[in-house]
Amino acid sequence: MPRLSIRKLKDSEMKQALRLVVNSGNALMKKVNRKPWRIRITATNPFMLHLKHTDPDGCVGAFENDRMVGFASSIIRENHWYLGYLFVVPSRWSRGIGRKLLTRVIATADPNEVDLFSLCTFSYNSQAVALYSSFGMPPQSVILNLLWRRENDRKLKVRRPERKLTMKHIDDYEKLGFINKLDKRNRGVTRPEDHKFFIDDDKCELVSFYDGRKPVGYTVLYKGGWVAPVSAVDPTYLPDMVISCVRHQLDRKCKLIAFNCPGSNDVILRQLLKIGFRIDETLLLMSNKPFGNLNSYLPAHLAIF
Ligand SMILES: CC(C)(COP(=O)(O)OP(=O)(O)OC[C@H]1O[C@@H](n2cnc3c(N)ncnc32)[C@H](O)[C@@H]1OP(=O)(O)O)[C@@H](O)C(=O)NCCC(=O)NCCS
Repeated sequence: MPRLSIRKLKDSEMKQALRLVVNSGNALMKKVNRKPWRIRITATNPFMLHLKHTDPDGCVGAFENDRMVGFASSIIRENHWYLGYLFVVPSRWSRGIGRKLLTRVIATADPNEVDLFSLCTFSYNSQAVALYSSFGMPPQSVILNLLWRRENDRKLKVRRPERKLTMKHIDDYEKLGFINKLDKRNRGVTRPEDHKFFIDDDKCELVSFYDGRKPVGYTVLYKGGWVAPVSAVDPTYLPDMVISCVRHQLDRKCKLIAFNCPGSNDVILRQLLKIGFRIDETLLLMSNKPFGNLNSYLPAHLAIF
């Protein structure tokens, strides 16, 4: 068996890392009889590269000679360490590589500064659930992917929002004050670096919601259809924000519309099911302790929550 080495990745290796994620993910999909992810890898993924650039020590590969056999990427935002990706090539599963990668990236957190450790994983991968639990991060909450596909699903029954909220596109780093404050309240940390990425990325737009002149929440709308996160100053605003987002994505003729919804948010879960969304994935939020205000917050891309 070739010797295993773990080292930080170069930018030029991130395309290879993405390929490893897709191959490993698809082997898991096959194992559990789910449809494969259809992701065409033509270039490095800018979002994965962004995480690498904010946290270069947390972005590592496991190598046998020159062959990448595992990939991990973690980030630290204030006191919160978060695992974005951990994937091992299928032919090397269950040989201790995942544990070694996790040990390496978790060590980037200084225990004097970081006290919250989390990630999201597939509920049906008992090996992953066991691995993270053994590091003191047990399951805390179910996170459901709610999805609607224009081609396959029946027409959405969308009502008008009860309160008329105005949506304003945020295109300036200086306008992040409200969003940072709301993140602290609902998500537990501020993360301006991620919002700057969303402002600069032409695949999505950062949008804030107003009730009259009062800012009441924000979202990130992806041109591909995802809506993640959605964050409100008060849970009563969340249903109208969600409806406004659905209408926006429908007007844009997105092929799909999707949200991440905590299983405990009965109001939003029932709302989305009622208008015609379907549950596509069941994931687990795993963490050393509960965090966040999940009644007012629908998670972002699950590599950052
Ligand atoms: C999940 C994954 C990263 C784990 O990496 P790995 O190298 O296969 O796992 P390891 O061999 O390091 O460790 C798995 C541990 O779980 C234990 N384990 C496996 N199945 C278990 C189960 N059902 N119950 C309890 N423990 C279990 C193993 O015994 C091992 O513990 P040990 O080190 O004490 O022996 C890898 O299997 C993978 O890439 N899977 C597909 C993609 C995926 O699900 N990634 C996670 C996304 S967040």
